Amino acid sequence: MNSSIQRRQFMQTVAAGVSALSVPCSVRAGSSLEKLRTAHIGVGGMGLSDLRSIASHPDVEIAALCDVDSDKLGQAAAEQPAAGKFADYREMLSTMGDSVDAIVVSTPDHSHAPAAMLAMNLGKPVYCQKPLTHEVYEARQLRLVAEQKQLVTQMGIQIHSAAVYRRAVRMIQEGVVGRVSHVHAWSNKNWGYDGGPFSGEHPVPDSLNWDLWLGPAAFRPFVPRVYHPANWRRLIDFGTGTLGDMGVHIFDTPYAALELTAPTWVRTTCREPNGIGHPTANVVEYEFPGTTHTTDTMLWTWYDGAKAPPSADDLNLSGELALPDGFALPGQGSLFVGENGVMVLPHISEAVLLPEARFQDTERPDVANQDHYHQWVDACRGTGSTSADFTYSGPLTEALLLGVVANRFPGQQLGWDADNMRFTNLDDANQLLRRINREGFAVENL
Ligand SMILES: NC(=O)c1ccc[n+]([C@@H]2O[C@H](COP(=O)([O-])OP(=O)(O)OC[C@H]3O[C@@H](n4cnc5c(N)ncnc54)[C@H](O)[C@@H]3O)[C@@H](O)[C@H]2O)c1
Repeated sequence: MNSSIQRRQFMQTVAAGVSALSVPCSVRAGSSLEKLRTAHIGVGGMGLSDLRSIASHPDVEIAALCDVDSDKLGQAAAEQPAAGKFADYREMLSTMGDSVDAIVVSTPDHSHAPAAMLAMNLGKPVYCQKPLTHEVYEARQLRLVAEQKQLVTQMGIQIHSAAVYRRAVRMIQEGVVGRVSHVHAWSNKNWGYDGGPFSGEHPVPDSLNWDLWLGPAAFRPFVPRVYHPANWRRLIDFGTGTLGDMGVHIFDTPYAALELTAPTWVRTTCREPNGIGHPTANVVEYEFPGTTHTTDTMLWTWYDGAKAPPSADDLNLSGELALPDGFALPGQGSLFVGENGVMVLPHISEAVLLPEARFQDTERPDVANQDHYHQWVDACRGTGSTSADFTYSGPLTEALLLGVVANRFPGQQLGWDADNMRFTNLDDANQLLRRINREGFAVENL
């Protein structure tokens, strides 16, 4: 079956599962605005970088800033003194109302969906950091609501718009290495935690509203350097480990190039679950249904932490496709095994085609860098469209999160029924697709 038809059918089938939703009042695809007034949720860390990138668009006015850490809020506010300042995004959205047109969400992963959904329920377009959500169910719902309300959306995978990745997509789709049977992708970063429970009584820093930081997650005491900032990535209740953190960037190009949909199964090899942290080293295998760019089925294997990059044994390439002697794989990247050759795609670098002699005269498409942030601003103002909207990034995130769930059941091959959003052979795994949000953080449509 033609892969674009297949993808459309996949989207239609899963869309059938959403409840009826009303069409909103605010900015939709195709509307036109003088200045886009943005509100930013989470303005420390990546959020500050997101703020600067959005603010660099000449037709943006930064209307509001929100952070649960008053130090981070103060730093951002020093750059945008005219913007309203808030600690609680719920209060910000209700106070600012129609004086804000569009929302940027740059919080830790566990708060993405509640903040983004609240904004979308109000009809606001959303730029949301990657991975789109912490839970599979949340990714499904964000996509469905964005589609129902026809909202302009973009997931924060800015390198999706980089020339090197866009060129690799073109080359794969032009069939340079032939139909692809297997993608290996990896990151030698380690966003895991293999230790025991945290203990001790620790004061919460004066600048931090711990209750708001926890948001939808169950309450627990604050521990310094464990959660805020950045280290939440290692913990199952807040982050998505290295797979969610880096896999979403690195698997994005294979996912886009091969026009993949939902995997049919997933299996992880890692340590036994400890109920606290993501494993520090994982190998995650997936099988996807074939598309026009792949063989009948397509395997994806992910390696992280000490398992990355993959070894020659892992790659199992032979004959002409074997890597040349002395060829060193980069610390992060992907490798496409095609019928006619291999493409090695180092993270945010130019692709290498092997065997070298076969591809030395291959012309590379002339592809330019695009500005991922400005693309979203322009689309919100009625010009053009975004390249990583939730219709694309929702299913990509779902696929990655299935591997994160599989980390809790090492060695078990989990069959996946995407239409019904359930694992076919393990009910315990189905319990990990959706979180019950803490009282006060429940949001309609989630
Ligand atoms: N696209 C990229 O290249 C890239 C790079 C880094 C991080 N990220 C993503 O950006 C997000 C943030 O990561 P980070 O490294 O900046 O984390 P961080 O912990 O350093 O910063 C998060 C910020 O959000 C604030 N915050 C937390 N909960 C909040 C809430 N409920 N409301 C308002 N503010 C809140 C924190 O106080 C902090 O200022 C993550 O989703 C991460 O995956 C993306």
